[in-house]
Amino acid sequence: MKPRLIVSHNIAPDVVARVHAEFDCPYEGQKMTADEAVAAVRAHRADALLITHHTRFGAAHIGAFPDHLKVLATHSVGTDHIDIAACQARGLMVTNTPDVVTECTADLTLMLMLNAFRRGAEYDAVMRKGWRTAYGMGEFMGRRMNGATLGILGMGRIGRAVARRARGFGMRILYCNSRRLAPELEQGAEYFAEFGAMLPQCDALSLHAPSGPVTNGIMNADTFGRLKPGAVFVNAARGALVDEDALIAALQSRQLFAAGLDVYRREPDFDLRFAALPNVFLVPHMGSSSVETRTAMGFRALDNIASVLAGRGTLDPVW
Ligand code: DGY
Repeated sequence: MKPRLIVSHNIAPDVVARVHAEFDCPYEGQKMTADEAVAAVRAHRADALLITHHTRFGAAHIGAFPDHLKVLATHSVGTDHIDIAACQARGLMVTNTPDVVTECTADLTLMLMLNAFRRGAEYDAVMRKGWRTAYGMGEFMGRRMNGATLGILGMGRIGRAVARRARGFGMRILYCNSRRLAPELEQGAEYFAEFGAMLPQCDALSLHAPSGPVTNGIMNADTFGRLKPGAVFVNAARGALVDEDALIAALQSRQLFAAGLDVYRREPDFDLRFAALPNVFLVPHMGSSSVETRTAMGFRALDNIASVLAGRGTLDPVW
């Protein structure tokens, strides 16, 4: 008898193949709501549920899971879509997929940063309209990323992977983190215990902290105002970290030269005022979206499920 699994959202083809080979799972590629996922777990008498960051599972959903559900595995490093306290209260194991997302998310961060510094969205829009007007040497200029000072909020795995890449662009690296890193992890990056003290030195700021009570709304009118005038802002972490009214105002006033965004407070129905701004490069939450990484994430989630169901515990416990 194979273990019974429900997959609530669309996953990569090689992961689907493994799901069918190793589990009893009625996967059809559907995108379930949380209510539908709870109903599917009950109907299939599932031992495990594989979810993604797209769907919120609040206390009511966690409370509605039947006792035969042993593990909730999210196909993401972020866990802000799950009420972890509710899972703890009922002893439901939760796993995520750290490590495997690091390099791709850092690659995408550099894509956001380069496009913001060098006006990628605007140049692309000009070409798609047919170009036809030559630009003078003093027109339509971007800003130089090479040699600029980059501030990183959150120097975990992804923050450090971004710093490694940014050093290749000759950038000076500053960081703010809940604790100072050992020198071998700092690699010359300068530590700031206080976020506000780092901001005035930043030509660019990139967020790599999780969403939570301390970080939510950390970017607001005050903190955007402390950045160097004409700075670049990048967010591939979570939209909840940003007051989007303040971000839009900073982009409109040119306090920010530009922004590169992968995440938003509301997804997928993000604030359409962003789409009307020329100086923002927009991506629809694709940080981990390469075939290689999405496959590795799916496999890691299945490894976690298999480990729990075999009685060996979680590989990547969230609590
Ligand atoms: C993550 O891994 O948390 C990404 O945001 C996508 O799921």
